[in-house]
Amino acid sequence: MGTQDTLSIIKPDAMKLKYSGKIIDFIENKGFTIIAQKKIVLTKRQAEAFYTVHKERSFFNELVDFMISGPILVQIIEAQNAVSFYREIMGSTNPDEAEEGTIRKLYGTDIQCNAVHGSDSMENANIETSFFFSKLEMIK
Ligand code: RTP
Ligand code: MG
Repeated sequence: MGTQDTLSIIKPDAMKLKYSGKIIDFIENKGFTIIAQKKIVLTKRQAEAFYTVHKERSFFNELVDFMISGPILVQIIEAQNAVSFYREIMGSTNPDEAEEGTIRKLYGTDIQCNAVHGSDSMENANIETSFFFSKLEMIK
């Protein structure tokens, strides 16, 4: 596996708890390079579009409301095998079930307020990075 880009989002819960610096440090210490980064507040329409894959899920409305509840930090991060490696260091969706030493175990609160998002496939990484960033914003 060569170098890949993946999309990371530091979610509103972790931003409110002022964990963004710790999470950035964690990501960089694992060897990732930050290619692009911005702090934004999603509109309802943008959050619904981003999570459209989950629109039939029972938690969709709650998830959208959570994701628009405050600023988020969106990043493109690069590493060898970035998509699966980031999923590994994020830990399980539910922080209670996440492995020790993962971001969600360290900084997550519950199954919804779980600190970070990471793309789940290379295809989705491409879709998600271009949802938030133009080529001009990616500094390699
Ligand atoms: P993500 O997409 O944020 O990286 O998380 P994931 O793949 O581990 O989890 P996914 O199944 O894609 O769910 C997306 C996000 O929805 C919230 N969620 N809430 N209330 C619930 O039961 C529930 N389940 C999931 C979480 O914020 C989850 O990360
Ligand atoms: Mg997911």
